[in-house]
Order: sequence, then C-alpha cells, then structure tokens
Amino acid sequence: MNDLIDTALADEGSRETLAEGAMILRGRARSQAPALLAAVAAIAAEAPFRRMMTPGGLTMSVAMTNCGAQGWVTDRHGYRYTPVDPQTGRPWPALPEALRRLAVEAAAEAGFPGFSPDVCLINRYEPGSKLSLHQDRDEPDRSAPIVSVSLGLPAVFLFGGLTRDAPKTRTRLAHGDIVVWGGPSRLAYHAVQTIKPGSHPATADQRINLTFRKAGPP
Ligand code: SIN
Ligand code: FE2
Repeated sequence: MNDLIDTALADEGSRETLAEGAMILRGRARSQAPALLAAVAAIAAEAPFRRMMTPGGLTMSVAMTNCGAQGWVTDRHGYRYTPVDPQTGRPWPALPEALRRLAVEAAAEAGFPGFSPDVCLINRYEPGSKLSLHQDRDEPDRSAPIVSVSLGLPAVFLFGGLTRDAPKTRTRLAHGDIVVWGGPSRLAYHAVQTIKPGSHPATADQRINLTFRKAGPP
C-alpha cells in the first residue's frame, strides 16, 4: 500500500466543506466499494464504456457509460441526455437500488434531503485521462445536487465557482470519497487533473467515478 492510500484511510469519516453547498464525505463509499464495482461491471457488460466525441470533434480521454432512465452523451451535435444508448440502440441499464440509496443518503448527509437521482454517469479514467473544467448544466432541475463517488486510483479535483476564472480549491479524491455539490454551488466549475500512473487494489490502473444526477424534468 502506498502513502497516498494510507492518507486516505486516516481520513475516513471526516467531512470537508469545499464551498457553500459543496462537501466531501471522506471514505463514505469505501465499505460498499466491492458492490459498487460489481454493479459497474454488470452495467458495462450491457452498455460498454466508450470514449465519446465532444461537439468540437475531440475524442474524450475519459471513457463513459450510464445507467438509469437516461444517459449523458456527447457527439458532434452537442451534450444531452438520451433514454436509449446510441451505441447499442437499447435503453440504458437500470440504476441499481443500492447505488441509488447510497447517493440519496450521501446527499442528505451533505444537506440535501429528498434527492431523487434518476441517472448515473459512470466515468472510467486511466493514467493520462483528465476532465477539463466544466459545469454540469444539462439537467433542467437545478434544485437537485450532484453526488460524485470516487473509486480506485486517486485524482486531483479542482472545484471553483460560477465563472471559469473563479478561484479553485484543489483537493485529492481517493477510493470511497463522495463529493456532493448543490444549492449555491450547483453550477460550480470543476475539473479532474490528469490521472497519474499507479495501481489500486480495487481497480488496478483505473479510476472509476459515478455521478448521480436528477436529469428528468423538475
Ligand atoms: C464529472 O465532473 O463528471 C466527474 C468528476 C470526477 O470524475 O470526479
Ligand atoms: Fe462534472
């Protein structure tokens, strides 16, 4: 076990406020990680991970899939949610109840009771993958928070404000950490820096991130 993982273990159960309406629940998903990763594998067997294209024509370094009533996709036509996986022509796999429950509980613990997620975007990072600065703004109901679960290799997460150039907090997200952002932080810009080479006992050379959203109409 390397130093980074030791640090994460010491943090288990602590909470950190990133901004008003944004909180990290350290290690909150760790005990459920094996079940979460098994669920991700089952989802990916039905709706494979794929590297999507941005509207600008670049292939993303992060591979994605989805589960739930809709899935987030990007292609030359833009960003949107679709009820059918464009790659398979089938509906996205259902959102497993254990995943949904974890997201609802984490949201409540972070100050957002009554969260009703209907979609989960699953991101798979490998060393060298990154996610550029963006807002999650394709969901019409902005009263619902975003719940983000990190598994496997650590990442450096940047969390800023409502404009691209607002000051950013830089924090490390480790296996089992959950970040919740909503309310005044719902449209905060955020990014994941390039994942460093490494190996994690749960995921080998991958980082898996699940973001639960409410994408249905308000
Ligand atoms: C996202 O912004 O959709 C993912 C964030 C993360 O991977 O931590
Ligand atoms: Fe995001």
